[in-house]
Amino acid sequence: MDEQKLLTALMESPDAIIAVDADEKVAFWNRGAEVLFGYRAQEMVGQPINILVPPDVEGDGELVELTQRLFRDGFVRNYRTRRLTKDGRRVLVETTMTPITELDGTSIGSMLVIRDVSNVERLHEDLLFAENLASMGEMAAALAHEIKNDLAGISGAIQVIRNSMDRDDPRCDVMAEILAQVKKLDSSVRDLLTLARPTAPQLEDANVCFILSEVISIVKRDPVMKEIEIVRDFPPEVCHIPLDTKQVSQVFINTMMNAAQAMPRGGRVTVKVSENKEDVVIAFTDTGVGMPADVMASAFTPFFTTKPGGSGVGLSVSKRIIEAHRGRIEADSEVGKGTTFTIYLPKRRRTRRTNE
Ligand SMILES: Nc1ncnc2c1ncn2[C@@H]1O[C@H](COP(=O)(O)OP(=O)(O)OP(=O)(O)O)[C@@H](O)[C@H]1O
Ligand SMILES: [Mg+2]
Repeated sequence: MDEQKLLTALMESPDAIIAVDADEKVAFWNRGAEVLFGYRAQEMVGQPINILVPPDVEGDGELVELTQRLFRDGFVRNYRTRRLTKDGRRVLVETTMTPITELDGTSIGSMLVIRDVSNVERLHEDLLFAENLASMGEMAAALAHEIKNDLAGISGAIQVIRNSMDRDDPRCDVMAEILAQVKKLDSSVRDLLTLARPTAPQLEDANVCFILSEVISIVKRDPVMKEIEIVRDFPPEVCHIPLDTKQVSQVFINTMMNAAQAMPRGGRVTVKVSENKEDVVIAFTDTGVGMPADVMASAFTPFFTTKPGGSGVGLSVSKRIIEAHRGRIEADSEVGKGTTFTIYLPKRRRTRRTNE
């Protein structure tokens, strides 16, 4: 085959192919190398190859080691290392090296074929991250489970004490406060559990307005509610629908707390219950700071938070719970005016659609 044609093919190869001379200076630099490292052939030919070696890697004497291996084994295959591009990025590459020799065997340099394997590594890291997350989830679930039992114990004990007190004993109110705090703690722990290990809702007929009243009495005791007025707009008829009371209470608590936290200087939350043909509709409207478009786009993403002490699980868990009930949750917001979260819960048990 015509040598010139061979050279042109090597030049055009999408793999980075580089030849270096005995002084470690670049003698050949093809199109693939230009793409991978960002240097044009005219910039690199005649330059020392170690321009591509990040300073900390060179400190390890890597080039010396590679040359030694090349002479000892006659080649170096798939050597994984970091290299530096023209714009300062570090890329993970796999290099295969072959010596270039004279007919009598004297070495006059080497040929390198280099592949960018950063993506492969990223995939591997993603996989590791997912595995870590899964085991962290397991740990969180185990811990949350323990705490949940202890909380149930505390709450039981407080109830016993409260029942033994006179109704007009002023300490009754303190007991009610402790119970409310324990319930909120229990709800946070459940958030964590739901995120780590979601459980199917145990549906039973329940009264949405009753659950809301209960939730309001719990959150009202939180200091964040101090300057906040809660307005109930409930229909006269009773809204009984199939739902998991504990899970749905958790959603209502999360939504009420978010509303309150969005009004650091006080304001109003209106809780409106209505119904359409298919759903009971619960709307929480606050007069808080509102959400700009970017916050709105990420609000339901796990661990997304804009609060200094926030964990960013409230909304993602709430969405998961509502969707497990075959309902949906929607947000509507205007910066500086306020936000409405609307929850649709089906009146009848919806069966799974066949394509799910
Ligand atoms: N009513 C609201 N008004 C304004 N922003 C809100 C409202 N509800 C939620 N957000 C925004 O959505 C983000 C995510 O809410 P989410 O409840 O998931 O997490 P969090 O409240 O930050 O932390 P956590 O609920 O885990 O304590 C909040 O940090 C906030 O920026
Ligand atoms: Mg929240």
